[in-house]
Amino acid sequence: MATDSNQFQKIISHCKEYGFIFPGSEIYDGQQAVYDYGQWGSELKKNIKDYWWDSMTRMHENIVGIDAAIFMHPTTWKASGHIDNFNDPMIDNKDSKKRYRVDHLIETFAEELTSSGNEILANEILSSMESLLAKDDFLGLKKLIEDKKIKCNISGTCNWTDVRQFNLMFSTEFGSTASENGEDNIVYLRPETAQGIFVNFLNVQKTGRMKIPFGIAQIGKAFRNEIVARQFIFRMREFEQMEMQFFIRPGTQKQWYEFWKAERLKWHLSLGTSTDNYRFHDHIKLAHYADAACDIEYNFPIGFKEVEGIHSRTDFDLKQHQEFSKKKMQYFDNDIDEATGKPFGNYIPYVIETSIGLDRMFLLVMSQAYTEEDLSTAEKQDSRVVLKFPAKLAPLKLAVLPLVKKDGLPEIARKIMDDCKSSFRCFYEEKDTIGKRYRRMDAIGTPFCVTVDYQTKEDNTVTIRYRDSMKQERISIESLKDIVLLAIR
Ligand code: GAP
Repeated sequence: MATDSNQFQKIISHCKEYGFIFPGSEIYDGQQAVYDYGQWGSELKKNIKDYWWDSMTRMHENIVGIDAAIFMHPTTWKASGHIDNFNDPMIDNKDSKKRYRVDHLIETFAEELTSSGNEILANEILSSMESLLAKDDFLGLKKLIEDKKIKCNISGTCNWTDVRQFNLMFSTEFGSTASENGEDNIVYLRPETAQGIFVNFLNVQKTGRMKIPFGIAQIGKAFRNEIVARQFIFRMREFEQMEMQFFIRPGTQKQWYEFWKAERLKWHLSLGTSTDNYRFHDHIKLAHYADAACDIEYNFPIGFKEVEGIHSRTDFDLKQHQEFSKKKMQYFDNDIDEATGKPFGNYIPYVIETSIGLDRMFLLVMSQAYTEEDLSTAEKQDSRVVLKFPAKLAPLKLAVLPLVKKDGLPEIARKIMDDCKSSFRCFYEEKDTIGKRYRRMDAIGTPFCVTVDYQTKEDNTVTIRYRDSMKQERISIESLKDIVLLAIR
């Protein structure tokens, strides 16, 4: 697994320096594994969201979106199995008191072995770990850690506790009065957005007159008390998911699972990424609700890692909600079953889920875009950092730059801004040389810059400069808007 931690560090620094991502609550020294999106980061994130939302809902006539509340009735999490099963095996180092997720501890050790050229041993350890995890063999996991002399990176010792399960859900209290047993008021911050879709399945199906197969999509925050939250926005405690539950007839799950695997990979590739940077990873240990599951992994600078999950969730969730709520979660299918000649009738639908982390997708787009270019010539040394975002995702689409701050050039530039800003995000700047302004726009990934100069006053033309090729050409002001609109479609 080729990793480039130097490249990763550069991306993290760039995100901070250019207003994409700041450490959360930085003035108080930050809050571990919590990040704030800055002025350009929030634009990029919104564009990714819109691209996903439009591809899922507008481009699929049988998928609609909802926006459910983060707080859900606590029984939701009993029914979904999260109270009993949403656990990770953890181990504590007795000397440093630091807690680790067992799989992360072993994976990090394996990554170190790989970087030091010992890939065969690393793979052996990883495959032992996977089979022990699949069997919930905690004694075996502890033995593996001890046998391989895996150390805590703080104390440097191998003095470990037993492996134990910890629930990943955050809880808080609802309302102002504490109840006698203190438990009645407990609510959870949702660990996945999916349950908001399941509890609204019938509301949407009935009011939207939806016919199976159909999907419900949602974008929203999710919260997990990740013990080892690390690798920048890759693993956070507060993050955003873009999920879609696709309701289908029982028995058709294999076919729809394959359909959504292909469809989601197509979506990723539509952003111009090469297929070599993606791969599927089938789950060995299935979540409590799934009969098949895989990850779409992307080749991040930290190696191939999960960005999206495709899960065949059976009828587990709807069945559980039916049992716990005592409300029917059934659908009446009046299509004719060819085998019997009769309607399919009442059933609890099966579900295929696609679930992508918005923050991971952000990191993917950023990793893909970040480029360092050597522009040196025989005369001088030069270089630039450019974010080669797909134009439709770029935070800013067009920068409008008057050559000088006088002689009527700013007024013309302002007029261009006024004509374009209702159609796409524009940016006006008149400070510094044009060269410096171009470089600043490269660093935040703006695909087009136009310079207004003295010739503009004579013939209504501007110089358009393309971010990736740095090519410049003269175009009429009139044609500018269409050029940008065509590129960001
Ligand atoms: N509803 C299914 C579900 O939540 P998951 O594989 O646990 O499945 C789906 O999560 C996606 O959410 C992952 O593929 C990942 O992109 C994102 N994700 C999960 N935990 C995350 C975390 N702690 N920080 C950032 N993204 C996370």
